[in-house]
Amino acid sequence: MASKREHSVNFVCLGNICRSPMAEAIFRKLLEDRKCSDEWEVASSGLISLHVGEPPDPRCIKTLAAHGLSTNHKGRVVKKKDFQHFEYILCFDEENLSDLQRMQRGVASSATVRLLSSEGRVVDDPYYDEEEAFERTYQLCFAMCSAFLDSVYK
Ligand code: 4NP
Repeated sequence: MASKREHSVNFVCLGNICRSPMAEAIFRKLLEDRKCSDEWEVASSGLISLHVGEPPDPRCIKTLAAHGLSTNHKGRVVKKKDFQHFEYILCFDEENLSDLQRMQRGVASSATVRLLSSEGRVVDDPYYDEEEAFERTYQLCFAMCSAFLDSVYK
């Protein structure tokens, strides 16, 4: 069933413990700042089920906290029905995108499935990197979420 809100977005990465919960928390704050939270349903999900029910990676939580943000997200996996529910399904790298496009095939879906990217840059997986990588992830997610929101209201 389609979302009851005017707009809806599901951020999807591989594990749903680093990039997508970070983008979800940032996006919620951007909506608050623009006083349009009520118009949106916001979610995040992963392509693998390994971290279902888990909180985000501690490095993600720490980086969000350093920017005054928090999250109570618990890992979930993207489902076929999400392609009928959400207006936007935004992902982080080419592998996410091809996995999602494969899932969308055969589903009666009007969802826009695309990369959260800017000028050809994507948000690579910080999971196997040092903690500093999470600050770069934050900065990229912030810029790309802001640009996405601008594009919806332009
Ligand atoms: P994410 O990072 O896709 O940004 O949440 C990852 C987290 C965990 C794994 C892979 C990517 N993993 O394979 O467990």
